[in-house]
Amino acid sequence: MSALFLSSLTLSHFRSHKRAKLDLDGRPVAIYGPNGAGKTNIIEAVSILSPGRGLRRASSQDMTRRPEALGWKVTADLTSINQHHEIETWSEGGASRQTKIDGKAAAQVALGRIGRVLWLIPAMDRLWIEGAEGRRRFLDRATLSFEPSHAETVLTYEKAMRERNRLLKDMVRDAHWYAALERQMADAGAKIHRNRMDALLLLANAQAAAETAFPSALLDLTHADPACDAPDDPNALLAALEGSRQRDMAAGRTLIGPHRADLSAVYAAKDVPAKDCSTGEQKALLISLILANGRALADDFGAPPILLLDEVAAHLDASRRDALYSEITALGAQAFMTGTGPELFEELGEAAQDVYVTDESGVSQVSQT
Ligand SMILES: Nc1ncnc2c1ncn2[C@@H]1O[C@H](COP(=O)(O)OP(=O)(O)OP(=O)(O)O)[C@@H](O)[C@H]1O
Ligand SMILES: [Mg+2]
Repeated sequence: MSALFLSSLTLSHFRSHKRAKLDLDGRPVAIYGPNGAGKTNIIEAVSILSPGRGLRRASSQDMTRRPEALGWKVTADLTSINQHHEIETWSEGGASRQTKIDGKAAAQVALGRIGRVLWLIPAMDRLWIEGAEGRRRFLDRATLSFEPSHAETVLTYEKAMRERNRLLKDMVRDAHWYAALERQMADAGAKIHRNRMDALLLLANAQAAAETAFPSALLDLTHADPACDAPDDPNALLAALEGSRQRDMAAGRTLIGPHRADLSAVYAAKDVPAKDCSTGEQKALLISLILANGRALADDFGAPPILLLDEVAAHLDASRRDALYSEITALGAQAFMTGTGPELFEELGEAAQDVYVTDESGVSQVSQT
């Protein structure tokens, strides 16, 4: 049984759920029910037990159950290694969300220290084809899973960059206004780059060390701008930012730095870039990376992460599905998986716990067998 799992999860006025309580153990969770029943809403609730806006990147207002729109709350009991934590996260009247850990107010980034949550959702099927932003987010989530302070570093960088962008837009030319902000960006930016490179190395090692039915991906961090050839060196980044001011002013925003980086992947066995692979191959690469991330965390953090796999089973043929289930079981991860029918999870048998979700006149109902 995994050493990182939710033993209970309660959703109050969260999306289609008025009140749902799940009692869980460390086994994978098979969530099934018809379209629109409220399955993805359950795993979205789990996703906000980690820092950030969750798997739909939604606002607090969107999560509030309508039509009441009273606000919402998600509570969970988390076992993390040998510690137990009670997590409460909620929003009242459309205000931004608040969090308590063990009864004490906590910043969202603190959630990243006690738990690890990773997800794969249908919207990521086009990750390798669409813009770099989604790939950066994917990489940063992996990075954060290894290095919880990455969340704060990214926030520091983005805050300084927003202020610098404001100066650029206002056509402020006085270097004095830029110095402190660029120093902050350079220090945080170099750290972001190093954290990401460390994460890529951990993922590469985890892929190399495992026998798996899923394909290996060769990952690399590429840069949209060659102006800085040592992105891990704060002084080089600082010099590049200073040197880029004129161009940035013309553009009205910062054109260099880790916010422009991209993640590239190659399907190793075929030597084909991920973006040129088939739909099924692209999905297999993502599954492979999530599993590698899980194995790396089992070593690095001491427990595999909580995995949220939305509609993953439906897109795999029976043999790939078997392989996925046996790897999840071997990993010992509490993987929340959704699908329309119980037959998708049949192979798991007693290795999984079932949650059946239905819609009863606009209210999601949850039952466990
Ligand atoms: N804020 C909200 N208040 C009330 N209902 C909501 C809210 N947000 C979403 N819903 C509803 O929740 C329902 C269930 O959504 P969810 O995405 O969880 O379904 P699902 O079971 O995953 O379905 P599918 O199998 O189609 O993916 C949808 O009908 C949606 O309209
Ligand atoms: Mg869904």
